[in-house]
Amino acid sequence: MSGNTPKPKTTPEKSTGLHVGEIAPGVKKVDPILVADGVSRSFGGLTAVDVEHLEVPRGAITALIGPNGAGKTTFFNLLTGFDTPDSGTWEFDGESLAGIPAFKVAQRGQVRTFQLTKALSLLTVLENMKLGAKDQVGEKLWQSIFPFLWKGKEDEIERKALELLERFKLIKLKDDFAASLSGGQRKLLEMARALMSEPTLVMLDEPMAGVNPALTESLLEHILDLKKEGMTVLFVEHDMHMVRHIADWVVVMAEGKIIAEGPPDVVMVNPDVVDAYLGSHQDTDLGVVTGRIPEGKQ
Ligand SMILES: Nc1ncnc2c1ncn2[C@@H]1O[C@H](COP(=O)(O)OP(=O)(O)O)[C@@H](O)[C@H]1O
Ligand SMILES: [Mg+2]
Repeated sequence: MSGNTPKPKTTPEKSTGLHVGEIAPGVKKVDPILVADGVSRSFGGLTAVDVEHLEVPRGAITALIGPNGAGKTTFFNLLTGFDTPDSGTWEFDGESLAGIPAFKVAQRGQVRTFQLTKALSLLTVLENMKLGAKDQVGEKLWQSIFPFLWKGKEDEIERKALELLERFKLIKLKDDFAASLSGGQRKLLEMARALMSEPTLVMLDEPMAGVNPALTESLLEHILDLKKEGMTVLFVEHDMHMVRHIADWVVVMAEGKIIAEGPPDVVMVNPDVVDAYLGSHQDTDLGVVTGRIPEGKQ
């Protein structure tokens, strides 16, 4: 996994000074875009998510890491209205999102992509872009998510879609069915489609999973570009090399709880974090997690 990640061309500029006070799970942020309190979700007897307090810093790239089954995807689902928690409140940009359905969450500027991509195979790449997240939420979204559609500016949507396809180097494939795309191209399409709604917070669930090494570098650059354009990124990723390289802040989940957070260099040498990865996460390069193996030497 980590060994396949090519060295990115650029060394990203890290955002620092994001938190207030002593670093600990739930630490306050100088300017949080997302604040979650007491968010929990159980499935039968299993507590999948039990987050006491989390603040996501605005304008930065935050990585959410943790072993398989830690509750990362479930937490994403809860925050974006794709699932309902048993308890808890959370605010995006100062407004409560509890009980707000997914399409309205997206309309407010918080969008997410899926661990398993949701591109519609029988639609073309361009159609996927134009329909945005319609498949996830039903008819209303089409009108509600794109403000310009209210004004009947359909050509505006097409222009925006083509511009994004150009930027994500998918323009040559615009008339191909999404089914014919590689795993990596689908990930790019999903990210491009998420940007159709001009979000302020982009949540990516394992953007690099299943992506051919040839495309990982461009995915990485695209994520860095989101930050450069002023967006906030929260992403789930197993590739510690990538996390260390692009994340400004790292949040670690295990068994539903936030067990650690902080800047990558601090978090990844934390013994609790290393413990959380042992056992269920042997395929990750622990040398990189612990910092024993310097970058580029794997
Ligand atoms: N719909 C569901 N029904 C029952 N159990 C679920 C469901 N979704 C997730 N789980 C369980 O919740 C736990 C957390 O899963 P998930 O959020 O997918 O973890 P992660 O994304 O960190 O790998 C796992 O034990 C998983 O089996
Ligand atoms: Mg997951």
